[in-house]
Order: sequence, then C-alpha cells, then structure tokens
Amino acid sequence: MQETLIIEGQYPLYGTVRISGAKNAGLVIIAASIMADGETILDNVPHINDVDVMMHILDQMGVECHWNEDASLSICPPAGEIHKKTPYELAKRVRASNLFLGALLGRQNEATISMPGGCDIGTRPMDLHLKGAQALGAEVDIEHGYIYARAENPKGARVYLDFPSVGATENIMMMAAKTPGTSVIENAAKEPEIVDLANFINSMGGKVRGAGTDVIKVEGVPVLKAVRYAIIPDRIEAGTYMVAAAITGGEVQLENVIPTHVHPIIAKLQETGATITETDNGLIVKAGPRILPADIKTLPYPGFPTDMQSQMLALLSIAEGTSVVVENVFENRFQIVDEFKRMGAKIKVEGHSAVVEGHKNLFGARVKATDLRAGAGLVLMALAARGETVIEDACYIFRGYENIAEKLSNLGAHVK
Ligand code: UD1
Repeated sequence: MQETLIIEGQYPLYGTVRISGAKNAGLVIIAASIMADGETILDNVPHINDVDVMMHILDQMGVECHWNEDASLSICPPAGEIHKKTPYELAKRVRASNLFLGALLGRQNEATISMPGGCDIGTRPMDLHLKGAQALGAEVDIEHGYIYARAENPKGARVYLDFPSVGATENIMMMAAKTPGTSVIENAAKEPEIVDLANFINSMGGKVRGAGTDVIKVEGVPVLKAVRYAIIPDRIEAGTYMVAAAITGGEVQLENVIPTHVHPIIAKLQETGATITETDNGLIVKAGPRILPADIKTLPYPGFPTDMQSQMLALLSIAEGTSVVVENVFENRFQIVDEFKRMGAKIKVEGHSAVVEGHKNLFGARVKATDLRAGAGLVLMALAARGETVIEDACYIFRGYENIAEKLSNLGAHVK
C-alpha cells in the first residue's frame, strides 16, 4: 500500500521530544549480536522498518529474535552453525544487511551476502569491505548478485581504507574481533556509531582499541559472550528535530541526546541564527528572529554529516540570503532538489554543489520522497510551507524515523 504523510504547514513547534536509539548503531549491533552464543538483549533499539527487515533476515538465518515487553530486543542465535546467507528479497531493502558479512565471517568464517540495496543516494560499492575481509584471510567471489566469502585460515592484518567508510570499518572490526592475531584499521571511520559498536564488542569480551580515532586496533578473541547493551541516541533524528524547531520559528526541548555527537549540527544552526542550550539530558533549540544563510560541506565525522544535508537544504531554502551546500560523500544526494522546487525552493545544482537562494514563500505541493533523509527534508519543507503538502513514498521516512507523525503532532505540527 502507498504510504503517505500529509502535513499542513506553518505551525511553530513547541514542547519536548524524546530522541530514539540510533538507527545506524542499532543495525550494526543487531548484526554483531550473532557473534555471541546465547541471548543478547539490546535496549534503545528504534522501532523502525529497517530494524524489522534486519529481524526478518535473522529469522531466515535461523536466529530467533523478538521484542520484549520492556521494549528491548532479544537476539538468540542457536549453538553451532547458522544459515550463512542473506536473501536478496530482504537484503535489497536495507543497505545495512551488508553488515552481516563481517558478523558471519566473525562467527563462522563464511558468509554469502546479497549485494545490498538501501537508499538510492549514489553508487555504494563494497570494495573496501572486501579489501578488509581479504586482508584478514577471506577468499571472495562475486557471482549472480551475491558475495561469497570464506576464510579457512583467518589471521589479523593491517588494512588501510582509501576512504573512511563507516560500513567497511564496521565489517572489518566485526571480523577482526574473532580473528586470531591483531588487526589494524588505518583511516578508519570515526562516527559515534563506530564507537558504540566497539563498546558493544568490548562488553562481550572483545578487545577493540582506538575507536573514534582513525586507527583502530583489534585483537581477536576466541569467544564473545552474550550481554545486555543500550544503543546510543540517534544524532540524525536529533538533528532533524533541531531543524524542525528552527524552520517553524518554535522552541523544542530534545531529550536523550549526546550533545558532542551533534556539535557540527549545533554549529551550523547557530550560524543560521538559532539559539541552542545544552541541558542535563539533551538540548533546547530556540529559533532566532531571522534565518540567516550558511555554507555547508558534508564530510565524514566529525565533519558535517551527509545524513543532515537534505534537512539543512530545507532550512536554507527559507533563509534570508544565498547559501552554498557541497556534498562530498554521496553524489546523488541532490536528487531531492526537484521535489523541493515543486514547493517553491530556489536551488541550483552544479555537480557536487547546490546554490540555495533563500526566500519565505514556500507552498505545499504533492511530492515524493526519494530516500530516507531526503524524505526528512521534505517533511521539514512541509512544516515551513503555506498550505498542505502530501508526501508520497513516505515508507522511506518510516525506515529511519520512529513514530515521526506522532512525535511531530505532539509538538503542535498538523500531520496525518
Ligand atoms: C553509513 C550510514 C549512512 C551514512 C553513511 C555516511 C549506516 C547503516 N549507514 O552508510 O546513513 O550516510 O554511513 O556517513 O550506518 N565507499 C566506497 N567503497 C566502499 C564503501 C564505501 O567507495 O567499499 C564510499 C561510498 O561510495 C561513499 C562513501 O564511501 O561515497 C561513504 O560510504 P560509507 O561510509 O561506507 O557509508 P555506509 O556505511 O554505506
């Protein structure tokens, strides 16, 4: 069935919103859970469609998993080997299904991974993931849309990543966690989700050092034990509600946020005129009297996150002046601009750059989400626009935002 969000714009948002657990940390930690025997219990996992798909994949692998009454998620791999294949029909729906590569290699030295799907935001190759697996001793073949990886004699090794890929860093960390010897990942990704994965592996008895810097050392251990673990808050969901406060001229308190994780977003919102105050458990974002233009370049962490680019494009569309946004991580992330233009935005894209001529006159329209974060950008445009916006293909948005309609409605937005 077609999923649609209908938003009546120009209601300022006020009140408090609780930020959910991080999608990107949750997905990789769900995959990593299969490396331990027994019941892993994860707290703070968001109830989103991507998590449902990961649960279906686990089910197909013969790994029992279920939600508990206290909203935690239990993952219970059986003793012995599990089914080593991620099926195409499910894997094509979630890019993060590729994270079973490192987890399966770590668990039982063998993985058959469907080349993953996910958001259409540019070419998303796997070369660095495979380079890492091969360096640690896996033989890799690609046939009929599947990656076949098998490590008869895995051994720790040094891997240099040409780009600090989040997924490649995670896959190599997981495989290395159970591979004899010491592995070193150079030019590793530094995202908070990488640190969360390292903390999870270490809580299971693993030996990962240096996560959060660009050199990660992993000493393989023979056994990881199942534990209970809480996922970090979602910095991108937080950033999206921060922009929602600023774009509607409101004031929103966000609970369950780690302020250091959102520093690049705070810095840019302050440049646009918003006031941000840190509290014990989060932040308060108050819109300024005017929205000022700002220039943005997306970069790996701690640079400005590509996953917040579309949302900032929405805010800059109503700024008083011209902004330049440069996308350095995913080349197709500006494909949403055509939908923004249907709502009156004045944006010119040339290659990796977008020039945004801000003005106050956005209007509602019928538009289509093209990926998860682009969909979030459309929601923000709709909150600022005059009249009604109908966002088709909202399923993209539900992939990553828990209860978004309810959370926005509680803040005073008119959303169905
Ligand atoms: C993760 C996040 C995604 C976020 C992205 C960048 C998850 C589930 N998803 O995606 O939300 O937008 O990080 O912060 O955590 N690349 C290669 N070769 C590879 C792998 C990647 O060239 O083998 C390139 C990609 O084409 C892209 C860049 O590296 O240009 C970043 O990709 P990567 O960091 O791997 O993103 P994901 O892990 O897929």
